[in-house]
Amino acid sequence: MTADEQTAAPQDPAKRITFFDTTLRDGEQAPGITLNTREKVEIAHQLARLGVDVIEAGFPISSPGDFEGVRAVAAEVPGVIVAGLARANPRDVTTAGEAVRDAERPRIHTFIATSDIHLTYKLKMSREQVLTAATEAVRLARSIVDDVEFSCEDATRSEPAFVAEVVGAAIAEGAGTINIPDTVGYTTPTEFQGFLLELYDRCPELRGVVLSVHCHDDLGLAVANSLAGVQVGARQVEGCINGIGERAGNASLEELAMILRTRADALGGLWSGLTTTEITRTSRMVSRMTGYVVQPNKAIVGRNAFAHEAGIHQHGVLSNPLTYEIMDYASVGLAQSEIVLGKHSGRHALRNALVEMGYELDRDELDQAFARFKDLADRKGRISAADLEAIVGDEMRVEGAADGLALDELHFAGGTGGTPHARVVVREADGSRREAEADGDGPVDALMKAIDRAAGTEGTLLEYAVSAVTGGKDALGEARVVCEIDGRRFAGQGVSTDVLEASATAYVRAVNASRHAEHGERVATGGV
Ligand code: KIV
Ligand code: ZN
Repeated sequence: MTADEQTAAPQDPAKRITFFDTTLRDGEQAPGITLNTREKVEIAHQLARLGVDVIEAGFPISSPGDFEGVRAVAAEVPGVIVAGLARANPRDVTTAGEAVRDAERPRIHTFIATSDIHLTYKLKMSREQVLTAATEAVRLARSIVDDVEFSCEDATRSEPAFVAEVVGAAIAEGAGTINIPDTVGYTTPTEFQGFLLELYDRCPELRGVVLSVHCHDDLGLAVANSLAGVQVGARQVEGCINGIGERAGNASLEELAMILRTRADALGGLWSGLTTTEITRTSRMVSRMTGYVVQPNKAIVGRNAFAHEAGIHQHGVLSNPLTYEIMDYASVGLAQSEIVLGKHSGRHALRNALVEMGYELDRDELDQAFARFKDLADRKGRISAADLEAIVGDEMRVEGAADGLALDELHFAGGTGGTPHARVVVREADGSRREAEADGDGPVDALMKAIDRAAGTEGTLLEYAVSAVTGGKDALGEARVVCEIDGRRFAGQGVSTDVLEASATAYVRAVNASRHAEHGERVATGGV
């Protein structure tokens, strides 16, 4: 049976896997990522279109920005469950409750570590104290919302008997989902299955709630471990789009969705409610807004995942795609990235194309997007969906950073044999303008130094990449930077037909992210 025939076959509700997306929380904790509220809401809308069941929109107590992000997603994204994370203490739990209050289906996700390593060195608490904190946190959360999830952080390095005891207490207080994280990506698939089966034995009440798995990718096993979990009874998987997240990241949700779709035969009919044709668009949006580039050979969403370069493969694929393709590229939404507009297209056509792509822009936003579209269309002629996504994503960043620094002017002199020299004019939110210039080892170095002088920052460039949004000499260039400013990492991204302008914009956005972080200081969250 093909994947499409399997998808069309009646599906057993007991085998449905709930997809819990934590791109906006665990994903956003990856170094350098800072999403503003507008970006979070836009990603959340796209996650809802993708069909995830739960969106963990942030960790409300950790910063005012996180609180606002969760509140906005809860208020503006209907249909899905919106979760806010909380440590097992009253302040965290009540703050998470306030943040998700306006959601159609609010969830509080509370957690505490159960491993002796975390108890001794991080929490400095006894097992008894942890048990009490977990019990009281779930009780309080249940007094605020009906839907409570409880997690034992670092579960896989904890003693199973203690995890079972804490889980039993959480269920007794009304937790409907019990999540077992492999916080440090340490376990292996068979070991994880053994651990979960032992929990079922020690805590039979676990069969009456939803068992969830949350796996990190430190050893490259996050997806394999999540799959191992659902094969022994877990019915919720947690992960992030593009597998982003702290350190090596979280389980990649698009990989899990396509494994279920493609190999339902080998997995006893487990299935998800995801609209897989939205995968490519979601992946691109997350990559663009986080500044995290997807590796070309990444399964499902990498640039080469459906490309057949080798001659022998091409021959086989042309004769019959089944020779080398186990998935149809259209099933992940790749077919939708075709040319959509030309230079004579008007505002109405642009609006329709954007609506079809899932973007709802208000009048001002549409005006901005149309101005950029026209500018680009004059230079480029034909505009693809990927170009439009780049323009709109870029406009959202501008809007989200409206209270920050902006690049007003950029002048550059250089060339073979000469010293690269840049002059910039930046504008603060209050309208004041500052000008600065600098020489550099290369054009980007000169630009960054000039921006640093104008902004009063001192940044070190750690990563720099420029890529073309589409093929062709007239392609839009997308620059991404990761830099260290005041000892912390920040990412930025910019799009323009001029790659130096894109690079300068990317750096200005990283500077804005660093300023934002200064104002909304994050609570230290230990291993979360
Ligand atoms: O990795 C982890 O343990 C977590 C929990 C907060 C669920 O992210
Ligand atoms: Zn995690």
